[in-house]
Amino acid sequence: MSALPPAVASAVLIRPLVASDAGAYKALRDEALRTAPDAFTSDYESSVDRDASEYVARFGTVESGQFFLGAFDAAGQLVGCLGCEREQRTKQRHLATLVGMMVAPHAQRQGIGQQLVAACVEAARRVPGLAQLMLSVTASNTHVVRLYEQAGFRAWGLLPNAIVVNGVGLDKLHMARVLTPASNDRTS
Ligand SMILES: CC(C)(COP(=O)(O)OP(=O)(O)OC[C@H]1O[C@@H](n2cnc3c(N)ncnc32)[C@H](O)[C@@H]1OP(=O)(O)O)[C@@H](O)C(=O)NCCC(=O)NCCS
Repeated sequence: MSALPPAVASAVLIRPLVASDAGAYKALRDEALRTAPDAFTSDYESSVDRDASEYVARFGTVESGQFFLGAFDAAGQLVGCLGCEREQRTKQRHLATLVGMMVAPHAQRQGIGQQLVAACVEAARRVPGLAQLMLSVTASNTHVVRLYEQAGFRAWGLLPNAIVVNGVGLDKLHMARVLTPASNDRTS
């Protein structure tokens, strides 16, 4: 009985976040907002006093297309996460946006970000009716742009001065990736 659970990827276990993860998620998020203010539209000062329970609704369920995946290290510590938020209006329910991509500073550059994006794409393509993922990324964070390009995302537009951080305007690159339905996996 040595088979690994399907979501184990090298050093981390990737699984959907649930209500009991809210405290760890808040700690990870607050740290990311504090250490990488250029990367996020939310800011640390407006977030640090929020109660962890406020985030539980975001965790959703994979089946609904509104979900958050967490990456857990061998000690069971949450070291990274990535969310998927599906559009709700009828004409846009084929679209979802990847949000809140972060890996704890001590765990970065070990391939966890790449694994989170791949797991999110894989989960999203199994959601009935979901056909395209979108995201936005601070354009000057070229290593993050490259990470998304390697996962199949392509830039389609640039919003100049999308966020202002410490008085400096930063552009956001908008990217999209078409999802191949999971049913296409089957060979005839
Ligand atoms: C962006 C982030 C999630 C990437 O996570 P990660 O686990 O470090 O990424 P990976 O280890 O999977 O690296 C993926 C690629 O990015 C490169 N990379 C990662 N961090 C890098 C850095 N600081 N500088 C240069 N390249 C970097 C890696 O070398 C790798 O490239 P390769 O496949 O060509 O070797 C993480 O750096 C982070 O949390 N940053 C702060 C928040 C942020 O920018 N979020 C994104 C919001 S859109």
